Amino acid sequence: MKFLAPQAAHGYYAFLALALAGLAPGCKKRAVQPPAAVVSTLKSAAPFPMGSAVVSGSLQNNYYYQGTLLAEYNSITSDYELKFNIVEPQQGVFNYTPGDYIVSFAAQHHLRMHGHNLIWHQALPDWVLHFQGDSAAWENLFKTHIEGEAAHYKGQVNSWDVVNEALRDDNGALRNMDGKPGDGAGSVWRQHLGPDYIARAFQYAHEADPNALLFYNDYGQEWGGLKLDSMIALVTGLKKRGIPISGIGMQMHIDINADTAGISAALKRLAATGLLVHVSELDIAVNPGNNPNIVFTSALQLQQAALYQFVAESYRANVPAAQRYGITTWEFSDADSWIPSFYGRKDWPLPFDAAYKKKPAYYGLMKGLKD
Ligand code: XIL
Repeated sequence: MKFLAPQAAHGYYAFLALALAGLAPGCKKRAVQPPAAVVSTLKSAAPFPMGSAVVSGSLQNNYYYQGTLLAEYNSITSDYELKFNIVEPQQGVFNYTPGDYIVSFAAQHHLRMHGHNLIWHQALPDWVLHFQGDSAAWENLFKTHIEGEAAHYKGQVNSWDVVNEALRDDNGALRNMDGKPGDGAGSVWRQHLGPDYIARAFQYAHEADPNALLFYNDYGQEWGGLKLDSMIALVTGLKKRGIPISGIGMQMHIDINADTAGISAALKRLAATGLLVHVSELDIAVNPGNNPNIVFTSALQLQQAALYQFVAESYRANVPAAQRYGITTWEFSDADSWIPSFYGRKDWPLPFDAAYKKKPAYYGLMKGLKD
């Protein structure tokens, strides 16, 4: 900026004062307009889509929810209503009512629609968990579900998480139900369909909706180690074989103690696969120790804000523009986060507070998106 000599500056400010008052020579007197407010939103600040997980009930009934979502976001992901237990509660009986609401809401408001998910070892109805049948019967169940759901939303869903969380946390092997220690919640899919079920899930989804972008989605990439190695091996292997995979989802359910170097390293390695990279379920918990007496102090708020900023900056720094599928938060208000009920504790993981007001986390995220 050029500085004016004090005299000239004085004249300039005197003129400005007169002009504002409408009294400068040559100025017609008219009402002084305040400068237009510069309104910044997440979607306008981000050089890529900004998404949120959503539920149909809140889209219908909660004005704060709908208003905030439409102001700030341009992409949505179904939170739980496109999962297996909702969509096919009994074999061959499909229930698309809540999912259809979400998908048509996206179309009506010109939002990108990301479907979550076709195959997961959780959110399964009892009939699947107790299904008795040989491998052909299991394959038929699996194929029918994927094709039924992907075909129902053909042309209306931009992308799918085809397979969610197939890998073990401890050693990156495929979840199974072979009783080996460390398997955690094993997978009936691997148990009954064999190790190549992931590739077939992508093929079935692609046949049903050839234009949808197909993702493998998981958590824990930021830990590095065997789980990340094996995820990279999985997706690069699929890609090499010509299996129609377009991207990888990094859930990023992290907490304020997350290792920032691990986040950047994972983003870099995921980007090096050449696939699209979606930060697909971001939230930042502040009470990972389940402290029942925790208070969300301003120090914690600022720590959370700094980490939101870091995630956005690291995504921009490590993922080339052409591979950025965007950042999706898992809901956006602390009122709607899955963390308090899932972990049975107080927590405040999202950018908006429970009254849908912007938190420091929001401003941290905003800063990371554009600075
Ligand atoms: C969560 C939903 O938000 C909850 O409503 C549900 O009770 C449990 O699942 N990883 C995922 C998401 O891939 O599907 C999960 O969503 C959160 C963890």
